[in-house]
Amino acid sequence: MHKFVIQGGRKLEGTVAASGSKNSALPLLFATILSAKPITLRRVPHLKDIDTTLTLLRGIGARASHEKGVVQVELPKLSSTEAPYDLVRTMRASILMLGPMLARERSARVSLPGGCAIGSRPVDLHLTGLEALGAELKLEHGYVVGSCPKGLKGAEVNFRMPSAGATEHLLMAASLAEGRSVLRNCAREPEIVDLVKFLRAMGAKIEGEGESDIVVNGVAALSGANYEVMFDRIEAGTLLLVGLMTGGRVQVDGMDSACLLSFIDALKASGAKIEEGNGWVAASPGANPKAIKIKTEPYPGYPTDLQAQLMAYLAQIPGESHLEENIFENRFMHVPELNRMGARIDVQGSLAVIHGQPSCYDGATVMATDLRASASLVLAGLCARGETAVRRIYHLDRGYESLEKKLATLGASIQRELD
Ligand code: EPU
Repeated sequence: MHKFVIQGGRKLEGTVAASGSKNSALPLLFATILSAKPITLRRVPHLKDIDTTLTLLRGIGARASHEKGVVQVELPKLSSTEAPYDLVRTMRASILMLGPMLARERSARVSLPGGCAIGSRPVDLHLTGLEALGAELKLEHGYVVGSCPKGLKGAEVNFRMPSAGATEHLLMAASLAEGRSVLRNCAREPEIVDLVKFLRAMGAKIEGEGESDIVVNGVAALSGANYEVMFDRIEAGTLLLVGLMTGGRVQVDGMDSACLLSFIDALKASGAKIEEGNGWVAASPGANPKAIKIKTEPYPGYPTDLQAQLMAYLAQIPGESHLEENIFENRFMHVPELNRMGARIDVQGSLAVIHGQPSCYDGATVMATDLRASASLVLAGLCARGETAVRRIYHLDRGYESLEKKLATLGASIQRELD
């Protein structure tokens, strides 16, 4: 296992490029199952979850390579329709194989993912949605076994709540279903818009992405495509906080602020100085930092994936800030670790009350528990007095491409070491 060793207290400044989005690249890679033709995806980040996905695709017969951000996949014929537990348990998004395999092969066997550190995270919306399209699903020995001997049929699907994964899953399946599907109460994330653009490049007929209701007119087959994955808005937000928290100005290139409005509004409300240009955003501290009250919500609300990082920032702003987590039930695992470093944060159910104090962090050895929690500990370590060791950074490696290299170019002292 690796850890990061950080010497804190340096001002970080400069310009970095945003990587391609993990949460967009994953569904796009699973969507390649829908086509027998060669597909090229550009700006695909080099991350553990991408490697896992390519292994899953190879397991069903795909030829797949990933070099310098370019993935090439070709799946002329499926040699298997199984997604095994050992891979699925390391990455919940693997459930997204079920619908595309059913749509193309009329059968599939995919392990159920189980819970994870941030909550129980059920997949009922994925399964009931596929059933509405005519799939017959059974649970056998921890696997969902699906079949649809006559193929999937278009239908109306009303999601009980907006889910990014379930919306993506049904978009893929409905693209190859016979007839028209209407998906209601869809998630509206930019990653969903990105998936629809990609499916459209493959020949899918979809309208309404980015809105609550999406209409899909199924087609008989999808073609190949050459497509560039959108930027990673969560990585971009994390990098913007780096300058703000250490007293410098950090500019992130290759991003579009329109996908991060609620986050940028939160930074502005906290007194940060935000500058924007064509394809870039920069953040630096303003003269009057202010405590703020934020709650996480489905897009376009404030993203849960930037909750832990914002908390690390707010812990240094004088006054009482509030952060309410409304998407996942167990996403405050970073709080005890931030408190060990000197933050003063109380958790009351889904509300974290942050008693901010400037320069609150002291270096310490801390333990990462999930991807975004890990990022918050790195942010705190960069501002802390002395040395911080962030252990179990395999969580970070799932979602941040070359994080230590990017931070080092901004002036951080951060080393990856064996733990
Ligand atoms: N939910 C259900 N039933 C379902 C599906 C979801 O109850 O069938 C609930 C979840 O438990 C959660 C809420 O709906 O409370 C929203 O979950 P959603 O399905 O939108 O999340 P997801 O698709 O599983 C993606 C990202 C997450 C991100 C969420 C929310 C990927 C691979 N993952 O997960 O990313 O937090 O959307 O925006 O795209 C991360 O990158 O750190 C991460 C966890």
